[in-house]
Amino acid sequence: MFEPVLTRGIDRDLTRIENYVAQGGFTALTKAVRELTPQQVVEEVTRSNLRGRGGAGFPAGRKWGFLPQDGRPRYLACNADEGEPGTFKDHLLIDRNPFLLLEGIAIACYAIGAHHAFIYIRGEFLTGARILEASIAAARSRGYLGERILGGDFSLEVTVHRGAGSYECGEETALLESLEGKRGNPRLKPPFPAVAGAYGMPTVINNVETLCCVPSIVERGAAWFAGIGPAGSPGPKLFAVSGLVRRPGNYELPMGTTLRELIFQHAGGLREGRRFKAVLPGGSSSPALVEEHLDTPLDFDSVARAGSMFGSGAVMVLDDSVCMVRAAWRLAEFYRDESCGKCTPCREGTYWITAVLERLEAGGGREEDPALLEHLAGQIGTRTFCPLGDAAIGFLLSSLKYFPEEYAAHLRGETCRREVAS
Ligand SMILES: Cc1cc2nc3c(=O)[nH]c(=O)nc-3n(C[C@H](O)[C@H](O)[C@H](O)COP(=O)(O)O)c2cc1C
Ligand code: SF4
Repeated sequence: MFEPVLTRGIDRDLTRIENYVAQGGFTALTKAVRELTPQQVVEEVTRSNLRGRGGAGFPAGRKWGFLPQDGRPRYLACNADEGEPGTFKDHLLIDRNPFLLLEGIAIACYAIGAHHAFIYIRGEFLTGARILEASIAAARSRGYLGERILGGDFSLEVTVHRGAGSYECGEETALLESLEGKRGNPRLKPPFPAVAGAYGMPTVINNVETLCCVPSIVERGAAWFAGIGPAGSPGPKLFAVSGLVRRPGNYELPMGTTLRELIFQHAGGLREGRRFKAVLPGGSSSPALVEEHLDTPLDFDSVARAGSMFGSGAVMVLDDSVCMVRAAWRLAEFYRDESCGKCTPCREGTYWITAVLERLEAGGGREEDPALLEHLAGQIGTRTFCPLGDAAIGFLLSSLKYFPEEYAAHLRGETCRREVAS
């Protein structure tokens, strides 16, 4: 029987530090700084096989192990930008379980030898930023942050930095640029942030949910964590389910839960009289999957094998009332607007894809438009400076692959079901 880890006790107002401590909060930090060496913490997290929850699924322990041991200051940047359409899990953790995040940050900093952490939070999350500021002050006053944590040698300052609402600033190197006060364009890699990150210093960037997994690994051990869900990507996962289901929301379940179980059992299935059409398993950047994929386990490897991307685990469900051309157009608009403009294939390609989809949707499409869309997408995929380019074409290509008849219908002037889907 799976017990929640990330959302445990979340209905008991965990923004009050006494409630968090009463349910065992900060036990893991105490154990880490009093009983374990930083290297032992890195090893434990590596053995747990915790994979980053921000989208790419990179093993957290390995990332921590990359930092050069050269005596320079090092930093942790917690990625709380959460700008991907469909993703709203970090938001919940920040607002309702902020001390879990701070405990994870403190343990991660102890492990990598950082004395300053930044939480880069999406500009729109004003309430979350305020909650974090208040939580940092409360944790400091009890000796869990600040100078000589829990009376030992380890000290840590945490700074909350609000972004300005740019999706691209969630990309880790654009985030660093923005943190340093510059325009949020991504950086050329190498050098990787582990070598030259914030202010040119070695930096680890981790997602909110990744860091929230850390206290339980330290407390209950790597083997326990690795035993939850599939061996290749284990652990608890907060799935943000949105779209046309009866009960959209966040569901904490083991990695490897199938799409079918998540959608039809936990999220209550579809609305009365509707049929399942497609699902984006990893937020707006992921190619759609269809009915034949409903038994796919939700983990990094299985979703990739099915032809999509696990991403941040944001599951967007579409029923038969949705027009795929319109959905593709709406998403294309998002990527066109959020392209930072640094590289030509993305800047120009997202513009032209949006323009072609718009004319198709408006009933002025040309016979060659589906092929033109594939061609334009081909000019973007794997040719851009950062992964936003690939993100911009995933859903489009899957809609052309699985629903060509809807494009054909638009060419015949049947702008399908528009009023229902808007
Ligand atoms: C356009 C774009 C937006 C991204 N937005 C986020 C985000 O909001 N939050 C996040 O954690 N990772 C985001 N990422 C992924 C980060 O670049 C990075 O992989 C992640 O923060 C690393 O943390 P993790 O290893 O703990 O997953 C984004 C990537 C791209 C390309
Ligand atoms: S792919 Fe898009 S967002 Fe990324 S650098 Fe190029 S223009 Fe900017």
